[in-house]
Amino acid sequence: MLLNYKVFTWCVCVCVFQVSLERVLGISTVSSSGLTSDPNSGLIAYPAGCVIVLLQLKTNRQTHIINACRKPFTAVAFSPDGKHLVSGESGHMPCVRVWEVGGGQVAEVQSHKYGVSCVAFSSSSSYIVSVGFQHDRTVSVWDWRKGSIIASNKVSSRVFSVSFSQDNSYFVTAGNRHVKFWYLDASKERRVNSTVPLIGRSGLLDDHKNSVFCGVACGRGLMASNTYCITSCGLLCLFNSSRHLEAWVNLKVGTAHLDVTRFKLYPPSTAGWSFSSYSFRAMMGCYIPAGPGTAAEST
Ligand SMILES: *[C@@H]1O[C@H](CO)[C@@H](O)[C@H](O)[C@H]1NC(C)=O
Ligand SMILES: *[C@@H]1O[C@H](CO)[C@@H](O)[C@H](O)[C@H]1NC(C)=O
Repeated sequence: MLLNYKVFTWCVCVCVFQVSLERVLGISTVSSSGLTSDPNSGLIAYPAGCVIVLLQLKTNRQTHIINACRKPFTAVAFSPDGKHLVSGESGHMPCVRVWEVGGGQVAEVQSHKYGVSCVAFSSSSSYIVSVGFQHDRTVSVWDWRKGSIIASNKVSSRVFSVSFSQDNSYFVTAGNRHVKFWYLDASKERRVNSTVPLIGRSGLLDDHKNSVFCGVACGRGLMASNTYCITSCGLLCLFNSSRHLEAWVNLKVGTAHLDVTRFKLYPPSTAGWSFSSYSFRAMMGCYIPAGPGTAAEST
């Protein structure tokens, strides 16, 4: 009888003292891969330890995704339609997880040993690419709805950012003295069993071969054959379809870590480069919401 009574009081206490996470102060991201925005909803997402904070800028309200396995999140990216979020984490045998925005986890895959440095959805949302920490050396593409890895390879550099091309046939990784184009089409034909090697080709960097490329975005629309990278010195670089670093502008942003996603770039006008961006993000603690019409220009 006494025992039953104790169990009962314990239950009551749990109900009374149940806590919920209301607000997270701080951010634990170290590179541009730990910040993502969905231009349609205005949500931005970033990791703070084992929590992903989803912040609605307009209302300054937060919701949260909590990693039940208690591994700290390292990388986040929204799907192109903003309905899903992919996360990478650090720690032994880390997972890449897909979350429904406003819901729970819907998929996970384990292909890295030590940590995930960046993640991205393909333009079709069907594939996810994840790149491991430098010691992990793995780059993997997976079909997240089937939960299978379709292609993978080794990467020796430290990678900070990854972006899929508009037609999903290749993706580009950017990092320490590193810009590499990885082709899926070539490997598709030889695919019999699930995993095939990816074909990687280096970007031709010429004078910029010692730069740190901290952000990458494949072009969209008219500029789909171009790739844009940003260096730690604030140079916005354009790679043409033959992987040549063809042009660059100095954004004069000092040593800020900038990252570009989904931005529209227009052909060079007589005034020089001009581009408008709705998610042009600056790391170092500040977020620059650049609406259409906001332009960075060089002469
Ligand atoms: C695919 O993998 C299975 C199991 O490992 C193996 O039995 C089969 O022979 C493989 N098929 C081809 C065409 O390599
Ligand atoms: C890419 O740029 C290089 C160097 O400027 C140039 O030689 C090459 O023709 C360009 N390729 C295309 C497809 O524009």
